[in-house]
Amino acid sequence: MALTITWYGHSSFGIDADGVKLVVDPFLKPNNPVALVSADEVAADFILLTHGHGDHVADAVALAKRTGALVICNFEIGNWLAAHGVEKTAGMNTGGAGTFPFGRVKLTVAHHSSSLPDGTYAGNPYGFLINFNDGHDLYIAGDTALTYDMKLIGDVGGVDVAILPIGDFFTMGPEDAVIAAQWVKAKHVIPCHYNTFPPIAVDGPAFAKALAREAGIDCTILAVGESAAF
Ligand code: NI
Ligand code: MN
Repeated sequence: MALTITWYGHSSFGIDADGVKLVVDPFLKPNNPVALVSADEVAADFILLTHGHGDHVADAVALAKRTGALVICNFEIGNWLAAHGVEKTAGMNTGGAGTFPFGRVKLTVAHHSSSLPDGTYAGNPYGFLINFNDGHDLYIAGDTALTYDMKLIGDVGGVDVAILPIGDFFTMGPEDAVIAAQWVKAKHVIPCHYNTFPPIAVDGPAFAKALAREAGIDCTILAVGESAAF
């Protein structure tokens, strides 16, 4: 049983969970300046959206319509997607969990802002805690500040993999991400939301070194298009 995670750049990931294809925050070519693939080239059975900002949802409608994927998001974003012709949505809310064919998904607290590209209210931003059927636990923080709420995830056993933003400026930066990784008791960290635009230029290898030195936690730095198996 394996979990394979591919970085499409920024906060956009493909996850293969025993053959089930998840796409997180689709922001692809040409919308995403660093992406190598477009919404026409990515497979999706499920799409997960962390909030309404364009750098997370730019390709969501196109990808959902092409693939017929079910979009897991919050209530407000689900309504917006439905109004744009997306047929299958699961509009949840923070603190709630739902069971899907690949595992159980809970929406976690994130401190950020959220509105959709056309200005529509998008509710509150959130992250995802996913307990996959094969036993892997994955935390996707979404765009967020460091928050004490992350300790709750560590208190209930931690996670195998945490996908954390490190870009600073719009989200927590590398120093806070080292603390977040410890609070959620991550075994492995994949950094994201950096090196996409000039304000979020961050030295990834320096973050990996700090994470190892200060927290003894493994960091998997993916190049855009690269995959890692856990
Ligand atoms: Ni955002
Ligand atoms: Mn963002």
